[in-house]
Amino acid sequence: MAIVSSGSPAPRNPLVAPEAVPQDEPILREDSLRPRRLADYIGQSELKQVLGIAIAATRSREEALDHVLLYGPPGLGKTTMALVLAEELGVRCRITSAPALERPRDIVGLLVNLQPRELLFIDEIHRLNRVAEEILYPAMEDFRLDLTVGKGTTARTRSLPIAPFTLVGATTRAGSLSSPLRDRFGLIQRLEFYGLADLQAIVQRAAGLLQLELEPAAAQEVARRCRGTPRIANRLLRRVRDVAAVGGHGQVSAELVHQALSLHRVDGRGLDASDRRLLQLLQDGYGGGPVGLDTLAAGLGEDPATLEAVVEPFLLQQGLLQRTPRGRVITEAGRAHLLAALPEAA
Ligand code: ADE
Repeated sequence: MAIVSSGSPAPRNPLVAPEAVPQDEPILREDSLRPRRLADYIGQSELKQVLGIAIAATRSREEALDHVLLYGPPGLGKTTMALVLAEELGVRCRITSAPALERPRDIVGLLVNLQPRELLFIDEIHRLNRVAEEILYPAMEDFRLDLTVGKGTTARTRSLPIAPFTLVGATTRAGSLSSPLRDRFGLIQRLEFYGLADLQAIVQRAAGLLQLELEPAAAQEVARRCRGTPRIANRLLRRVRDVAAVGGHGQVSAELVHQALSLHRVDGRGLDASDRRLLQLLQDGYGGGPVGLDTLAAGLGEDPATLEAVVEPFLLQQGLLQRTPRGRVITEAGRAHLLAALPEAA
């Protein structure tokens, strides 16, 4: 029996890591390709419809937009949507993430400096600490900070008004949010993996911005390999552009995309070596499952939370993996993919 879990795992291929990776920094390397207006944002039609109505109503009432919680796998456009909302409302968007709000003064500093109707975007909001969360409750509900001044017996609570603002929270783990925090969002929206046609349109739009000529079949090939995720599509496209530039290709063909992405071990369905290791471990190490998340994570040398929130969603959505009450199970499609992917992926 071939056990694939021995030794330390190969690092995840950053090209197909759905989370933002350091090479994307400053965050805004992706910026040149981000849509700025709702009309340019491709896909997520239900989300756009809901937010479009909320924007129009908010504008006509001249109020701050209700607080918005965006959840779903990484790379699907939560930050982009926050920036689009700000643009549509004609206000600034302050961007931060929960791990950066360690001390009470971090969040207080942001809140007191907000101008009326501005957006505050907090990424990974499920990681907010208890104190920061409790500062947020009256801020979200009544635009008020309840601050404790002094210590011990002389401690007093002071209320400080702040400008009406909109909190846009983003999370890959909506279930990890405390219910008092979740209940304070007026709009809670899930971002879905993108379909092929939308991805193809996103790739063509990005290619235009990068001044790269892509044949439609080439755009489709990138769309097929990007795990339903625009962030990955744009990263793959940059690698294709490199290969096209070095080879002196004018128009990029599907064959060139295939060559460029095979070089990075991204298979025809967008899976990288670590996705295939997961499926292979399930198949060879555990007879296809069921096997518990922690056991699987230990075998792969991955953190269980990352495996669950970042790696698994796409495999589940593709029907290559199933979650059952007794653990993870490889599907027939998963087995078939391992067989088909072998020659190009080994
Ligand atoms: N680039 C990244 N995400 C996008 C989207 N949803 N629409 C258009 N361009 C994008």
